[in-house]
Amino acid sequence: MSRFIVSGGERLFGEVEVQGAKNSALPILAATILTKGENVLHNCSRLSDVTTALKILRYLGCSANITGNTAIVNADNMCGSDIPNHLMREMRSSIVFLGAILSRTGKAYLSFPGGCELGPRPIDLHLKALKKMGAKITERHGILECSTDKGLKGAKITLSFPSVGATENIILAAVRAKGTTTITNAAREPEITDLCDYLNSCGADIYGTGEGVIVIDGVDELYSTQHTIIPDRIVGATLMSAAAVTHSDICLKGIIQSHLNSVVPVFEEMGCQLEFSKGDLFFKSPKVLKPVSLVRTMPYPGFPTDAQAPLMAVSTLCEGTSVFVESIFENRFKHVDELTRLGASISVQGKVAVVQGVKHLYGASVEAQDLRGAAGLIVAALGAEGTTDIGGIKYLERGYEDFEVVLSSLGANVKKI
Ligand code: UD1
Repeated sequence: MSRFIVSGGERLFGEVEVQGAKNSALPILAATILTKGENVLHNCSRLSDVTTALKILRYLGCSANITGNTAIVNADNMCGSDIPNHLMREMRSSIVFLGAILSRTGKAYLSFPGGCELGPRPIDLHLKALKKMGAKITERHGILECSTDKGLKGAKITLSFPSVGATENIILAAVRAKGTTTITNAAREPEITDLCDYLNSCGADIYGTGEGVIVIDGVDELYSTQHTIIPDRIVGATLMSAAAVTHSDICLKGIIQSHLNSVVPVFEEMGCQLEFSKGDLFFKSPKVLKPVSLVRTMPYPGFPTDAQAPLMAVSTLCEGTSVFVESIFENRFKHVDELTRLGASISVQGKVAVVQGVKHLYGASVEAQDLRGAAGLIVAALGAEGTTDIGGIKYLERGYEDFEVVLSSLGANVKKI
């Protein structure tokens, strides 16, 4: 079990390239099974979730490998329709393979993803939409059995909530379905636009991504392509948090400014200065950080739930009171107790966390319990006095590539043991 040992208080400096987005890579890897020939995906981060997605592809009969940050997938020999339970358990978002497998083979057998570290994560919206597209779905003993008699057909689908995973599953089911699918109240996250850009370059007909109504005209065949995955806006926000909490000036390279529109004002409210120029972000943090009046997590283009924990870690050392409202997931304050061990003053009631900034955090032994919570604890440890020993790094490695190397290259004192 890996742990991070962080000696806090070092100022960061220099520049770093932001890794490719995990939340783009996963649905795009699932999408490759809809195509003929060899797909080359550049800027694919080496993450444990990506390894799981590659294992699923190989289990299904595809060839799937990663060299450096380039993944190569060929699904011509795909023969399977099921994902074994242990792979579903390794990564809850394996559910994004459902629409693709069903479209490719006319059937799919997956174990039900169930709850996870963020609380209950239902997939009712995914299943309702796929049923509307002609899928027969039964749930027995925790297994989802899905099939189609005459293939999937286009449908008009309105989501009651703009679920990222449901939008992706519908897109994957619809690209090769008969007729047109319209998704109203679709999720607008940049990673969905990236998925659709990939699919369109394979020959799909998808319009309206990023605008809430997505229209997909089904096509008979998709071909392989080369695609470069977008930079990870959440890793970007985490590195900005690391710089903010250590009162540092750093440069992030390969950032897409518009993806951070809801995050930038929060750092500005803290007194940080952000300057974007040709894909680079020059980030300067002041000596004294001001609190943030209210951060409410929302579907994109609102403030991302995935950036809540790192930002909260910064707010523990702001001069005053900050308020966070978590409106996406029920159980996304697991980092709070661990931040408290470092000396933070945080009270939680339901969806609301009130952070009373303190003058100092002090190193302690803490345990991460989810991916972004792990990132939040590392941010806090960088701003703390003394040494923090952070467990649960397996969660971090689901979404951050060689994070100890990245932070060390910026001058942080971080070791993985
Ligand atoms: C994706 C991201 C995750 C991010 C989240 C919200 C990936 C791999 N993961 O997760 O990093 O935190 O979006 O931005 O891209 N819901 C239902 N029924 C459903 C589906 C979802 O009630 O059928 C609820 C969930 O319980 C949750 C909310 O909708 O409360 C958001 O979920 P969703 O947008 O689907 O998130 P994921 O796709 O799981």
